Amino acid sequence: MKKLLFIQLLVMTGFILLMTACATTRNTTLITTKVHPRPAGQQSALQLTVTPLKTVRVGFVGLGMRGPDAVYRWSHIEGTDIKALCDVEKERVEASQEILRKNGRPEATCYSGSTESYKALCERDDIDLVYIATDWIHHVPIALYAMEHGKHVAIEVPAANTLDEIWALVNTAERTRRHCIMLENCVYDFFETAALNMAQQGLFGEVLHVEGSYLHNLDDFWDEYWNNWRLDYNQKHRGDVYPTHGLGPDCQVLNIHRGDRMDYLVSMDTKAVNGKRIVEKKTGKPCDSFANADQTSTLIHTAKGKTILLQHDVLTPRPYSRMYQIVGTDGYASKYPIQQLLLRKEGLPQNIDYQNLNAHSALPDSLCREMLNNYLPDFVKEIEATARKLGGHGGMDYIMDYRLVYCLRNGLPLDMDVYDMAEWCCISELSRISLEHGSAPVAIPDFTRGEWEKTAGYRHAVSPVGRK
Ligand SMILES: NC(=O)c1ccc[n+]([C@@H]2O[C@H](COP(=O)([O-])OP(=O)(O)OC[C@H]3O[C@@H](n4cnc5c(N)ncnc54)[C@H](O)[C@@H]3O)[C@@H](O)[C@H]2O)c1
Repeated sequence: MKKLLFIQLLVMTGFILLMTACATTRNTTLITTKVHPRPAGQQSALQLTVTPLKTVRVGFVGLGMRGPDAVYRWSHIEGTDIKALCDVEKERVEASQEILRKNGRPEATCYSGSTESYKALCERDDIDLVYIATDWIHHVPIALYAMEHGKHVAIEVPAANTLDEIWALVNTAERTRRHCIMLENCVYDFFETAALNMAQQGLFGEVLHVEGSYLHNLDDFWDEYWNNWRLDYNQKHRGDVYPTHGLGPDCQVLNIHRGDRMDYLVSMDTKAVNGKRIVEKKTGKPCDSFANADQTSTLIHTAKGKTILLQHDVLTPRPYSRMYQIVGTDGYASKYPIQQLLLRKEGLPQNIDYQNLNAHSALPDSLCREMLNNYLPDFVKEIEATARKLGGHGGMDYIMDYRLVYCLRNGLPLDMDVYDMAEWCCISELSRISLEHGSAPVAIPDFTRGEWEKTAGYRHAVSPVGRK
């Protein structure tokens, strides 16, 4: 009997030791990717500013579904000159030329005919900014060429899909001292700007956890993309290939590379079902490989002990959601699936009657709306009416373009820098790496190369005496 007990004890001890070893192994299997040292003679582009531009002279490349709306919005922004329009397809350029005509703008020079037509646009010496709204594959070659030719670049989301592309953009922006901004519009939505302002004023206490997502059933759109680029990309690539709408607002609230940094991630996905069905319906042939899952989830950990939950689903029929949520030690905000705020009582403005609240339910809708309105930052309030009138996803696209022009005309750092672009885009490849290694943790590179604590907190730059 004693012998049996001894053997049992031995087996148990062995099992515990084995589990501990597994846990230790797990902790040490962080997958890393190369962090490229900064090339000699090149400086950081943190808080990059350039000489104020009296007028922002812009050329647009990529005039499919998204690009023409930007042309329309820019034709309503003071201090801009739309010099050139470019798309592979001539009739798309002509359609945007018509937008200029209708909105009282002079005609722009047109470029079309090939995927290289943008080069002539970038080589002009009367353009300050190249605004890129092509498919994902062409974003980076165009942006690099434009920066090499002295232009600032604004690139639609996601600006880049691979780590090589991202490092190339970072290095080129640093070396050429050109702005490289990703056109992440969701950071300018009314809820997001108000909630960010509340977080900055401490209403949520210390923000510990945030969520964001892109849950958008693209069934109605798959056939509309030029040369089927988007379905093709999803068919070939696993991972969260469209992370920036969810992640952008999260990173601003967490002051990423302005005091904190994303440290590592783990991803998990479902099997791919609907992607195959869509391909089969389109081609009439069986589809046996579709890399992108119907649902991909990613958890990100930050150096200062915060977490981010990110989701991607463009294939199942569920309500549109960017899932934006903020969880703080003293409060909570959520935009989806329902707009809610919950604050500890002391966080509420004194003049508001909160008798009906209890500790665990959200503020009443009317109070929530009132607070969101009160906390809209001044730069949004100033242009809110125009933004709502001109639209672009309810106005946030106009606010984004307006801010870009405002910062360039006032010589201010842009609201999003090349490192934001890098951090938000790198999730695409890093989530794939995690998925291909059984959801292993993957290190998120420090694209600032050691300078992530140099800037104290996220702020929108404002010019005290500048141009409107
Ligand atoms: N921020 C947002 O809310 C939002 C919304 C929709 C799309 N987007 C992004 O905008 C971009 C464009 O999307 P879309 O829906 O307009 O796609 P689309 O397929 O409708 O349009 C892409 C256009 O780019 C053109 N093009 C491709 N390569 C080119 C090149 N080398 N030179 C010139 N033109 C070229 C094509 O001819 C086409 O007209 C994508 O990056 C997408 O992710 C962002």
